Amino acid sequence: MTMKIAVLPGDGIGPEIVKQALRVLDVLKNEGMEMEFTEAPLGGQAYDEYGHPYPEFTQKVCRAADAVLLGAVGGPQYDNLDRPLRPERGLLAIRKDLGLFANLRPAMLYPELANASTLKPEVVAGLDIMIVRELTGDVYFGQPRGMRTNDEGEREGFNTMVYKESEVRRIAHVAFGIAMKRGKKLCSVDKANVLETTEFWKEIVIDVAKEYPEVELSHMYVDNAAMQLIRNPKQFDVMVTGNIFGDILSDEASMLTGSIGMLASASLNASKQGLYEPSHGSAPDIAGQNLANPIATILSVAMMLRYSFDNEAAAVRIEAAVKKVLAAGYRTGDIYEEGMKKVSCSEMGDQIVAAM
Ligand code: IPM
Ligand code: MG
Repeated sequence: MTMKIAVLPGDGIGPEIVKQALRVLDVLKNEGMEMEFTEAPLGGQAYDEYGHPYPEFTQKVCRAADAVLLGAVGGPQYDNLDRPLRPERGLLAIRKDLGLFANLRPAMLYPELANASTLKPEVVAGLDIMIVRELTGDVYFGQPRGMRTNDEGEREGFNTMVYKESEVRRIAHVAFGIAMKRGKKLCSVDKANVLETTEFWKEIVIDVAKEYPEVELSHMYVDNAAMQLIRNPKQFDVMVTGNIFGDILSDEASMLTGSIGMLASASLNASKQGLYEPSHGSAPDIAGQNLANPIATILSVAMMLRYSFDNEAAAVRIEAAVKKVLAAGYRTGDIYEEGMKKVSCSEMGDQIVAAM
């Protein structure tokens, strides 16, 4: 079966990091793995070409694909566009369109990079957390939303935090399933002391837990979770939470590892179709200079092979190549330390391809 992959380079450093990730896939293709790539624009790039951040052409290409590889979207030149036309809306639209409700954001620290974290090495050494973020519900998509003039004649902004039972159940199943394959510990993050939506979330998670008696389930308020992630991050194995809390906590967790340039992510729907992208943004300040770290995107390709194509061996092989290159001392600027070998984006790609 040919693996159909949609390639969305996007904005900023997107094209250069995606190029390196495609070189890694090319290694596998040249060895006989059948894959077919179709490129399409998303975000600002799509706005420039089609006047919309998620145009019909891109939608067609992505719907027909088994997996989507995305670089990054956004840039200062698009900040003044009407809200529905901004690059971020393209990302939200593709998530919703493909039903990508399960966002997996691993935060793991490579031993070689323990000094890159702003936390003490002993606090973060060996860190390996998986954040499971619900991605198509919550205040991100809840209706009604908008800005209006209220009955007292004052202007106000408003959003709706809402979760349906089916939405909580399916993300809880994904999280328990992942916990079963890891350390069998799951922490569900809520704000049940204040928000009914998340009190409901907690109730459903507790119900789903009955089907996973081997998993040790705990609950934490989001403010405490934000604090515990800094205080003692190694207490966590898998965390599951809603869209907005997951957005914030996953950025926080990423910095425990020292560089957001290292972290992959997967967004999956019920039929294993997935969008794979680095956790970092489009970094317009260094775009086009061959300085970006392509590792997060390359590790996203590993996640693609694991989750959309059930090819654990190929995933592990890519991850091992990354480890080997780090152990050999190669570093892009964002993770550079004195005494290491500083390389460009494409040179990092060269090294990883060679290590495979
Ligand atoms: C992320 C980003 C997006 C989000 C933005 C760009 C819409 O921060 O993927 O975490 O909030 O989900
Ligand atoms: Mg975010």
